[in-house]
Amino acid sequence: MNDMHAGFHICHEPGSDAHAPPLLLLHGTGGDEHDLMAFGRRIAPASSLLGVRGRLLEGSLTRWFRRHGEGVFDLADMAERATELAAFIGSAAQRFGWTRAPIAVGYSNGANIAAGLLMHHPGVLGGAVLMRVMNGLSPSPGLDLAGTPVLLLSGRHDPLAPPASRALLVAALEEAGAAVDQQTTAAGHGLEVGDAEAAGGWLAGIATA
Ligand code: MLT
Repeated sequence: MNDMHAGFHICHEPGSDAHAPPLLLLHGTGGDEHDLMAFGRRIAPASSLLGVRGRLLEGSLTRWFRRHGEGVFDLADMAERATELAAFIGSAAQRFGWTRAPIAVGYSNGANIAAGLLMHHPGVLGGAVLMRVMNGLSPSPGLDLAGTPVLLLSGRHDPLAPPASRALLVAALEEAGAAVDQQTTAAGHGLEVGDAEAAGGWLAGIATA
């Protein structure tokens, strides 16, 4: 179902199991609310799926937050947009009757805003799959993400997200107590079949944990 919710374009597909964690699907730069729906269904056959469209436009490209250049983020804007998205999630949870916090599944710019949500609004997400993330946020003192499961899927040949671009994020997540898993494959910046396999296996594992 395509619709607007709280000012965001959304695409929702109900799940078949109310106990399966809902997925919040966050596209990369230039994408939309439909981009990750098939991916989400593949990795979580029984979950409620919610694809959302970023509201910022860079030229004609949709995004989740501003940047000054490739990989140079406007961290203040990211924090503000993460706060907007956190409010949206609360209201979507009511509308769709979610009984647990969603797992964000974000790609590229969508992974970066998902990381911003974890860092600025702990508790809003039940966990996150961060694909090709390159978030440079510094740790906030006292951040508590105890037990929050986070999976990073990275590409060894990703020119946009070299290992150093996520080192701070991983350190901050671990320092805050998140349960961080990381897989790096021979991929580049684009998604590959292996990403769905890895994300699906990881989700099945956290659902039974
Ligand atoms: C970003 O701006 O979030 C990253 O550079 C990745 C992208 O190009 O979207």
